[in-house]
Amino acid sequence: VGADGVRRFSLDAAAGTSEMIAGKRTATWGFNGAILGPTLRARRGEKVAVAITNGLGEATTVHWHGMSIPAEFDGGPHQMIEPGGSTMPTWTVEQQAATLWYHPHPHGSTQRHVLRGLAGLFLVDDDASDSLGLPKTYGTDDIPLIIQDRRFTAAGAIDESDNSKIGSLGDTIITNGIADAYLTVSTGAVRLRILNGSSGRLYNLVFADNRRFDVVASDGGLLAAPAAMRRIQLSPGERAEIVVVLRAGENLTLTSSPIDDDGGVKRSDADRFGMTDRFDILRLRAQPRLTPSVATPSTLVPSAAIPTAGAVRRSFDLQWFMINRKRMDMNRIDFEARVGGTEVWTVTNKDNWPHNFHVHDAQFHIVDIDGRRPPAQLAGRKDTVYVPPGSRVRLALRWSTHADPMYPYMFHCHLLMHEDQGMMGQFLLL
Ligand code: C2O
Ligand code: CU
Ligand code: CU
Repeated sequence: VGADGVRRFSLDAAAGTSEMIAGKRTATWGFNGAILGPTLRARRGEKVAVAITNGLGEATTVHWHGMSIPAEFDGGPHQMIEPGGSTMPTWTVEQQAATLWYHPHPHGSTQRHVLRGLAGLFLVDDDASDSLGLPKTYGTDDIPLIIQDRRFTAAGAIDESDNSKIGSLGDTIITNGIADAYLTVSTGAVRLRILNGSSGRLYNLVFADNRRFDVVASDGGLLAAPAAMRRIQLSPGERAEIVVVLRAGENLTLTSSPIDDDGGVKRSDADRFGMTDRFDILRLRAQPRLTPSVATPSTLVPSAAIPTAGAVRRSFDLQWFMINRKRMDMNRIDFEARVGGTEVWTVTNKDNWPHNFHVHDAQFHIVDIDGRRPPAQLAGRKDTVYVPPGSRVRLALRWSTHADPMYPYMFHCHLLMHEDQGMMGQFLLL
C-alpha cells in the first residue's frame, strides 16, 4: 500500500516453460512467472491499482471474475491489451470477503489463453470474515486450489483442440500448475479455496474416504452457515471454500468422482462430457503432530435476500452455442439495465449437454433450480451457476452503481469453448 493509500500490484503476462508434469517441460503462459499468476489480495474498502503489461505475442485481457468493478476496468473483450502494451485498472473493492479470480477474456480466444496458463486468484478480506476464527494463514491452513485439466500432444505441448461438445477436456489434472499435487498439512483444520479453472470439465469433489467437510463459502463470499457435505460439484468458473479436519499422521486424497447430480445427462452422454471420470486432485499428508484448530463456527455471514417484487424480469435460453438464438456480437448491446436496480433472470438450458451461466459485476442469489430452492451450498452469493441439461435456474440480482454509457459488461456460459463460440451477450449499466 503506497503513501496514497492505494494497494498496487503488477501483472506481467509472458510466455515461458513450466514443469507441469515432473520431468517434462511444456511451453506455457503466465503472469509474473511461467504459469498461472500470483494470488492478489485486498480488503473491502481499499483502492486497488493493477499495472498490467502484455509480453505475449498476441493481444489479451485480464478480467476480474466476480468483482464488482467499473465496466471500463472489467477486462472484458473491449479492453484488449496489445502485445507490448500496458494498462492499469483502478477501482475500490466494495464487496464482502470472497475468493475471486482473474483470467483473460479476449473474444474467441479465452479457452486458448486460459489453457496456456493465464489465471490467478484475487482474495477479498473484510472484518466480518476475519473475526470468525476460520483458518486464515495463507499457505499454511488457508490454501488456494486452482483445478484444471489438460491434454498433451505427443511432442509434449498443451493440446488446445476441442475434443468434445463442451470444449477441450483433459486427461491430466493440473492442480496449482502441477500434476500429482500434494500438500503437507500442519494444522488440524485446513481451509481449501477451490476454483474450477478448467475450460469445460465439471468436478464432483469428494475425499477418498468419503469424509464430511464444511462448505463455508461459495463464489461471492461466506455462507450464512457452514454446509456439512461429503461432496461438492463445481462447474467451470465456480468457487467453493471448504474446511476439512485431518488426523495427525494420516494421508487423505481429494478426488473427483463421477457427477451424481447430472441433471438429466444420459449415462451414455455423461461419458462424452467427462462426467464419469475419476481423478485424484490433491494428496494431503498430515504431519505426525498437528497444531489444534478451532471448530468451524456454526454461523458465518448472512446475506440479505435480494427482493424480487418489482424486479425487472429477463430470460435467457441457452441453445446451440447461442443465447436467445443470438451469438455474441461485439457491436450489439443486448439490453440496458438501471444502476442499483433489481432483476430476476430465468436461465434455461435447452440443450442435452451441460452449460453454466456467469454475469459480470453482480453477485446473485439462486431463487430456484427447476422450482426447488437451492441446496445449502448454493444458497449464498454466486456469480456462476451450473445449468443442467433441460433445467431452468432463476437468479435474483441487484446492480452496482457503476454507470457507464460506453463500456458494456458481459453475461455468458463459462464453458470457455462455448463462450468463445458466442454464447455471450453484453449489457450497459446506465
Ligand atoms: Cu470468468 Cu466473463 O468471465
Ligand atoms: Cu466474469
Ligand atoms: Cu455452455
